[in-house]
Amino acid sequence: MPVTVRLLAASEWRLWRDVSLQSLAESPDAFRPTLAESKDQPEEFWRGAVAPTVEHERCNLWIAVNGDDPVGKLFARIDEELTTVYMGALWVAPDLRGAGIGTRLMQAAEEWGKDSGVTRSELWVTEANQAAVHFYEYLDYLPTYDTQVLREGSKLVVRRLQKTL
Ligand SMILES: CC(C)(COP(=O)(O)OP(=O)(O)OC[C@H]1O[C@@H](n2cnc3c(N)ncnc32)[C@H](O)[C@@H]1OP(=O)(O)O)[C@@H](O)C(=O)NCCC(=O)NCCS
Repeated sequence: MPVTVRLLAASEWRLWRDVSLQSLAESPDAFRPTLAESKDQPEEFWRGAVAPTVEHERCNLWIAVNGDDPVGKLFARIDEELTTVYMGALWVAPDLRGAGIGTRLMQAAEEWGKDSGVTRSELWVTEANQAAVHFYEYLDYLPTYDTQVLREGSKLVVRRLQKTL
């Protein structure tokens, strides 16, 4: 079945919850939130994470679906000055990697940013995550000198990347 990349609707908070928990379990070093702090969150948490985001004019969530199964996701937010689109939470199911889904998700958000008048895209990547580092290189993201730890107590370093759109 072909994989579809599309915007998430507010009513689809369960899809976002399911794909988010999969991503945190599968790629714990790629994201600041942890599975431990996310897995027992009640329905209100996920409704509260999804609806205000997709209903906000400067935020969006994209989902990749294979039939009814969520197989990828991306969050993006545009700053108040309409200069930069910030990407986050990108994940593609392991068995579907290498098929261009990550690229399609990123391109959807970059196009939305450009259509909104934005000229720059930014994101943070864990330096040790070589697959993602190569992926962002492929998409023409450039490293900045900005680094920080992934989360409090972590030894993992994340670096800010940017791209002119
Ligand atoms: C990073 C990630 C989103 C890439 O998604 P994907 O759908 O596999 O990416 P694409 O198929 O669009 O890849 C596009 C290009 O990126 C590069 N790339 C992707 N994965 C790569 C890897 N593992 N090693 C080297 N280069 C890679 C390649 O140049 C690839 O083009 P090619 O297949 O023609 O060689 C995916 O590996 C993933 O979900 N990883 C775990 C979560 C994660 O790290 N998220 C990022 C958080 S910052």
